[in-house]
Amino acid sequence: MRYLSLSLSSTTMAAALSQVVGYEQPTQPVSWNKRDLLLYAAGIGAKADDLSLVYELDKSFAAMPTYPVVLPFKGDSQELNLFSTRMGKTPPGVPKAKVGVHGSQSIEILKDLPLASGDGWTWTTKYTGVVENKTGIILTSESLLLDPKKVPYAKLYSSSFLIGAKTGENFSKVVAGPPQGKPIPKDRKADWTVQDKTTLEQALIFRLSGDYNPLHIDPEVGQKGGFGGVILHGLSTFGFGARALIKAVGGGDPRSLRLFGVRFTAPVKPGDALETEAWEVGPGPNGTVEIAFVTKNLTSGKVALGGGIAYVKKAGPQAKL
Ligand SMILES: *[C@@H]1O[C@H](CO)[C@@H](O)[C@H](O)[C@H]1NC(C)=O
Ligand SMILES: *[C@@H]1O[C@H](CO)[C@@H](O)[C@H](O)[C@H]1NC(C)=O
Ligand SMILES: *[C@@H]1O[C@H](CO)[C@@H](O)[C@H](O)[C@H]1NC(C)=O
Ligand SMILES: *[C@@H]1O[C@H](CO)[C@@H](O)[C@H](O)[C@H]1NC(C)=O
Repeated sequence: MRYLSLSLSSTTMAAALSQVVGYEQPTQPVSWNKRDLLLYAAGIGAKADDLSLVYELDKSFAAMPTYPVVLPFKGDSQELNLFSTRMGKTPPGVPKAKVGVHGSQSIEILKDLPLASGDGWTWTTKYTGVVENKTGIILTSESLLLDPKKVPYAKLYSSSFLIGAKTGENFSKVVAGPPQGKPIPKDRKADWTVQDKTTLEQALIFRLSGDYNPLHIDPEVGQKGGFGGVILHGLSTFGFGARALIKAVGGGDPRSLRLFGVRFTAPVKPGDALETEAWEVGPGPNGTVEIAFVTKNLTSGKVALGGGIAYVKKAGPQAKL
């Protein structure tokens, strides 16, 4: 028996991989309050004049629509957690990887988030895609944020790239995934450009929303990981990009952002300056416009968030109601 399991043929491994699509993680209870929203806003670089995000008494105070991305880390606890216990288990049948990286993330807002959840909210995750290439396996999962009556408030797709995992069969099965971004128009400059700066303490603040991965605070772990020191959470950069579009396209109203999706293409270090360039590329659903965007390290020009797609309710006289 031992020998058999050690010498699984690649075909058997591919058969096991085919079981991954449809696999569901255990449902997770989640919760948040106003204070969590303020903390998250600070973690994604909200500034002193972003009152609708950082001041609970501001008349436009609202949840940052990308807030749910931290809920699988935070769960329903107000306490710190051990990062290693927060990552959902890799589904059975996935070959061993050298390392896993967050490849892409999208969130679609189905209903505006309340300022505090109360009890009974849950997070579900099921796998919707497995794609093998020469360097590893890309797993895509779909998550839903559900209220106590199981009404979905947000739908998210996340992919992780498991470097070094392989069956050698080029296995591929995808049943659902996020909307794909249109290419950046080559013939014109960006319609909006937003510059912003992360601080040296950015990761210290962002981790308080639930992702306590040591990679973002312990320089030795960052060195060992080959990053030359700590790197900022990809999801913090994600929030910087979302804030940029809300400010530039949505007139500062957090409720204007209805979909936001990116590929993580390069790390950002705490202290890096960022630039988000955005192009309107057509109408989006439900009175939104579709935006294509990139977020770059302003100094090096390296793209940190690529393949950006967003649906935003555009502010101003042209906005459709
Ligand atoms: C495999 O997929 C990953 C993630 O999308 C990508 O970064 C990488 O370039 C791909 N490798 C090959 C050889 O296609
Ligand atoms: C997998 O894809 C690679 C690159 O396209 C190809 O060279 C290889 O022959 C394929 N392997 C199988 C088992 O189909
Ligand atoms: C448009 O809005 C309706 C009602 O709020 C919602 O059910 C639907 O998912 C939205 N469509 C998209 C593509 O976001
Ligand atoms: C961003 O650009 C600056 C200037 O080139 C560089 O010092 C920094 O390391 C870059 N960040 C990353 C994560 O590459």
